[in-house]
Amino acid sequence: MPTLSLTDLSRLSIANLDVDGKVIFFRTDLNVPMADGQITDTTRIDRTAPGIADLASRGAKVVVAAHYGRPKGQRVESMSLEPIAPALAKAIDRDVTFVSDCIGEDVDKAIATMTNGDVLLLENLRFHQGEEKGDAEFASALATGIDLYVNDAFSASHRAHASISVIAGLVPAYAGPLMAAELTALAAALEVPKKPVVAVVGGAKVSTKLAVLNNLVAKVDALIIGGGMANTFLFAQGVDIGASLAETEMADQALTILKNAEKVGCQIILPVDVVVAQEFKAGAASRHLTLGQDHLDADDMILDAGPATVALAVDALNSAKTLVWNGPMGAFEIKPFDGATVDLARQAAILTKMNGLISVAGGGDTVAALAAAGVDDKFHYVSTAGGAFLEWMEGKTLPGVAALLEQA
Ligand code: 3PG
Ligand code: MG
Repeated sequence: MPTLSLTDLSRLSIANLDVDGKVIFFRTDLNVPMADGQITDTTRIDRTAPGIADLASRGAKVVVAAHYGRPKGQRVESMSLEPIAPALAKAIDRDVTFVSDCIGEDVDKAIATMTNGDVLLLENLRFHQGEEKGDAEFASALATGIDLYVNDAFSASHRAHASISVIAGLVPAYAGPLMAAELTALAAALEVPKKPVVAVVGGAKVSTKLAVLNNLVAKVDALIIGGGMANTFLFAQGVDIGASLAETEMADQALTILKNAEKVGCQIILPVDVVVAQEFKAGAASRHLTLGQDHLDADDMILDAGPATVALAVDALNSAKTLVWNGPMGAFEIKPFDGATVDLARQAAILTKMNGLISVAGGGDTVAALAAAGVDDKFHYVSTAGGAFLEWMEGKTLPGVAALLEQA
């Protein structure tokens, strides 16, 4: 698989193509969080909307396709995309016609009657088993009446699904603007980065990020390890971690990562001071301890890194040109265990502004953590991707990206 170059990116971009009168299958990610029928975070809609609006204003007939949740090949009403249609219409400032399936006669008819500038939203792709199976027949049903394919769903491009990788081989395929922005930012962060590169990897478990850690050690100059997974590293080094969550069975793997890092000259920054509590709840009584110096009680749990650790991390960031961030430094959802995440995120935001630090963040909790610190709009780039961002950090080629590159 070739690495992605900027030449590839401009070749793949839909930005300069004449799309007037063309029917475009626009695969995006509308998998937004909802509670009680209300969208609680419109970020993904807002980030893909300009691409849809732009194509429509250039005279394209835009057929928007997306998945929602994991209905496993069946129609599940609570996972219909219908409630998303008004939000999409608002975001693109145009009417959106919803059609209650993604293949079949009704869909073909709706597409055939579109006029230039129309936007159609198809029902959840995953209501059909063929989507997740990457079924060729389903993909060609999706491609019926379609002139061009645009993938603007970087965050779903780790799935080798019919609407992601298979259809890209059936009609001329392009990258949408959000996809292009994600790929540009990610290339700048790890593929052709300005050095030194520092990575922050946090989160609960080493086991879910083993491949990420192994890949990063070989690529970055310094790796800051935070969150619950830092406990496993500390435990592996023989540090007393009291009752902290740790994957003790991962200790050997943790030591191997440390050894490999030493071999290639990747500096590893682990907590040197921590915030502990005996209960995991908001406002729990907590203490600040210096590791190797202060005593942890048997029922103390490490729930955050301390200020001396943040200072070490900031030292590394001060001389860095590039930062890749995935995962919080502590249990940031619950105060007072958000301190290290918030402080480090704010320092990174300041360095982004003052030093031109190329700060790129993504993955599950990360965006929520940056938002909690009030800096999600102050990073160089914040990805909309969860799982796809992680797989990219593992050094994998995402099937959706590979499909674009192969046919370009
Ligand atoms: C996401 O929410 O990360 C994407 O929409 C992919 O969803 P999936 O993990 O259900 O494939
Ligand atoms: Mg079709």
